[in-house]
Amino acid sequence: MIISVTSLKGGVGKSTLSTNLAVCFAHMGYKVAIVDTDTNMSSVHWSGLRSDDKPSVAVFGITDSDALRKNVKKLQEDYELVIIDGKPTISKLVSTIIMLGDVVIIPLKPSGLDIWATEQFLEKYEQAKTLKDVKAYFVLNEYDDSLNLSRETKEALKDLEIPTLNTTLRTRVSYKEAIVVGSGVYEYTDRKAKKEVRDLTEEILELLKNQ
Ligand SMILES: Nc1ncnc2c1ncn2[C@@H]1O[C@H](COP(=O)(O)OP(=O)(O)O)[C@@H](O)[C@H]1O
Ligand SMILES: [Mg+2]
Repeated sequence: MIISVTSLKGGVGKSTLSTNLAVCFAHMGYKVAIVDTDTNMSSVHWSGLRSDDKPSVAVFGITDSDALRKNVKKLQEDYELVIIDGKPTISKLVSTIIMLGDVVIIPLKPSGLDIWATEQFLEKYEQAKTLKDVKAYFVLNEYDDSLNLSRETKEALKDLEIPTLNTTLRTRVSYKEAIVVGSGVYEYTDRKAKKEVRDLTEEILELLKNQ
């Protein structure tokens, strides 16, 4: 199974989601690999900090579109789950990432800038859809139901063809803390963060099972 985490904008939480989903799936007993496609190598750095006593998450850095296609196919022989941590560009790489995913997850933060970037993303999505039945979903990250901006962003997404997952992630310092010690929030002390990541993992697992 392949989960592609992608967007056309940096800083929306792709690497945060990729590492946290990977950790949660690893705790559920899945053999998991992350393929980091961004030249900033966030997930690769994260894996360098991960201690051996935690469930293993293999991380590979691949930034070239053709190499990605070839290697992800191979990785599927050894890993039950491959998570592709995307790169924010309008390039062939993004199309490849969308095409490879059994499920495509698009994180975004509640802001006008993120909505505009999403409109651009939809063009790539429409192209991919002519070749394959792409299953793409938005995930609202740094979402706060008490803020107008959050609620308005959620409303605006309802007008788009791509559905939004029920689980939202709040702004929590534990996400920033966990990543720099090679952990997921699932392994951390913040119980609310742990619950929302578990909910998100289960929601995505259901989507994969219904393929
Ligand atoms: N839910 C969250 N709560 C707090 N900080 C977050 C959250 N999601 C992402 N961040 C922070 O936002 C920044 C960008 O996230 P990152 O996952 O690197 O985005 P991307 O991979 O899309 O560029 C990082 O500093 C990360 O720690
Ligand atoms: Mg990243």
